[in-house]
Amino acid sequence: MARRKKVYEGKAKILYEGPEPGTLIQYFKDDGNAGSNTASTGLEGKGVLNNRLSEFFMSGLNGIGVPTHFIRRINMREQLVRMAEIIPLEVVVRNFAAGGISKRLGIPEGTPLPRPIVEYYFKDDKLGCPLVSEEHIIAFGWASQQDLDDVVALALRVNDFLSGVMMGVGIRLADFRIEVGRIWEGDYMRLIVADEISPDSCRLWDVRSEGESPAREPGPLQDVYTELARRLGVLPSNV
Ligand code: C5P
Repeated sequence: MARRKKVYEGKAKILYEGPEPGTLIQYFKDDGNAGSNTASTGLEGKGVLNNRLSEFFMSGLNGIGVPTHFIRRINMREQLVRMAEIIPLEVVVRNFAAGGISKRLGIPEGTPLPRPIVEYYFKDDKLGCPLVSEEHIIAFGWASQQDLDDVVALALRVNDFLSGVMMGVGIRLADFRIEVGRIWEGDYMRLIVADEISPDSCRLWDVRSEGESPAREPGPLQDVYTELARRLGVLPSNV
């Protein structure tokens, strides 16, 4: 059997050349995590669950007309995706204060934000992915003003979809991160959601364990990968 060509290896995933031009195979590892669930690193079966969960969210988004790179799941750990030119930004949408925004602005964790807030972080691990403004992004040519307007519209549609799906299974989506890529269809360029949508890149709170008081006590979800997959009904039979 011919060896596949590895295109990229990150903390949590490997990308291989896909079977058709313009496609890639995305392999989900158990290791690594760019997001807030650092306790999960190396958790056995995490990659299998994230492959299923990302399939669930991305195909749901495709189904409501929010374009993503997802084409189909191939096996337990791999999915076929469209190759996109990734914009070097981590796009974070926040509904409740937590993590970075609580530290930076002194807002208590769990405070509902007046509206969803979209933030950009420059995708550079060596620099620790610093928060950047639209001014930086446009001045340094990482994206145009038009791209950013489209990124915000895309991110807010993803937020509405994910928040609704999560709330349907008793989970509050405090915040999440997406990556956005460009694809060309003839002369026409459009932006699509790339990478993955999984507990690695979302901050999820269990509604059932929240306090009764108006100052909501954020209750983290225990064993977030299995619990989310179980509630959404996408738990593979052998996990
Ligand atoms: O740490 P912070 O509050 O800025 O994270 C906001 C959201 O972005 C969290 O859901 C976190 O999991 C996600 N994130 C990520 N990858 C990063 C940084 C944050 O997925 N490199």
